[in-house]
Amino acid sequence: MLQSVIEEADSVFATAQSEEVLLHAKARFLGKAGSVAALMARMREIPPADRPGFGQAVNAAKDRVEALLQHNLLRLRAEARNRDLAGPFVDLTLPGRRAEAGAVHPLRLVERKMLAVFSEMGFEVALGPEVETDFHNFTALNFPPDHPARDMQDTFLTTDGRLLRTHTSPVQIRTMLANEPPIRIAAPGAVYRCDTLDMTHSPNFRQVEGLVIDRAVTMADLKGTLLRFTRGLFEKDLEIRLRPSFFPFTEPSVEVDVQCVFCGGSGCRVCKHSGWIEILGAGMVDPAVLASVGLDAEVFGGFAFGIGVERVAMLFYGVDDIRHFYENDHRFLSQFA
Ligand code: PHE
Repeated sequence: MLQSVIEEADSVFATAQSEEVLLHAKARFLGKAGSVAALMARMREIPPADRPGFGQAVNAAKDRVEALLQHNLLRLRAEARNRDLAGPFVDLTLPGRRAEAGAVHPLRLVERKMLAVFSEMGFEVALGPEVETDFHNFTALNFPPDHPARDMQDTFLTTDGRLLRTHTSPVQIRTMLANEPPIRIAAPGAVYRCDTLDMTHSPNFRQVEGLVIDRAVTMADLKGTLLRFTRGLFEKDLEIRLRPSFFPFTEPSVEVDVQCVFCGGSGCRVCKHSGWIEILGAGMVDPAVLASVGLDAEVFGGFAFGIGVERVAMLFYGVDDIRHFYENDHRFLSQFA
């Protein structure tokens, strides 16, 4: 009787193909309602004199069943391990795959820096549409009807008679039409020109425009603002230099050079040994522009300047080819993370 329970447990445990099945079988033999407990329950049927011997025999059978269980548990674990080892090889020493973190684009970093300096000086951000009218982009900015910049060579025209803005200066017009002076705005955004992409040109680049309109604004205010702006931007006490220039919407107009950010003015390859680098265009707002937005040039005046974001970013980070900014090569972009 005891022997048959042991033999049955042996064959049931030995055929179990998983730990789950084995533990289920365990309950059948060693559980409260299992075969071993049933054997113990038969104690009452045994004559009192034989009971100690019977008890010992049942306990021995129980030990045997437990040993069989343990044996088969180890058997199943060894089998599972052998299956793992026979499966595909996992090299735990290989480096893991890192999740790539996003980062702010270098052009945006430079644009933010410019806007931060403007903000310190009390300028507010103004935005305008990239698809513009000829009026806002050219006419109101005092471009004569035959000005070469209006030529299809330079300007992308849309089929509905509008155009892609060629500069951020139309935001000046929109701001002056919608607000009364005093005006102090910084207008960042994309601009478009029919240029071929090469090391230093792109048909789509970014500018930030500054505009101040108030009573009694002078060219000294322009120069002081530009000095403060360039020093804030480059975080260095660089000098600036104003050279006479021409824009239809400013009079007088200037090109602004900053002392070379690389050599500090002593001369190097980047500044072509001149010590200076041209970084922006500026000037006093032309009375014709004020008239086009209905401002009295006898009362109000101001200045404007426009700066290219790519050009400054190239100087800032020592990037020698503008195309790097547009190619989205992670090896390039991750350097700014
Ligand atoms: N709009 C000019 C350009 O695109 C830059 C500029 C802005 C010049 C404001 C003077 C004043 O080149």
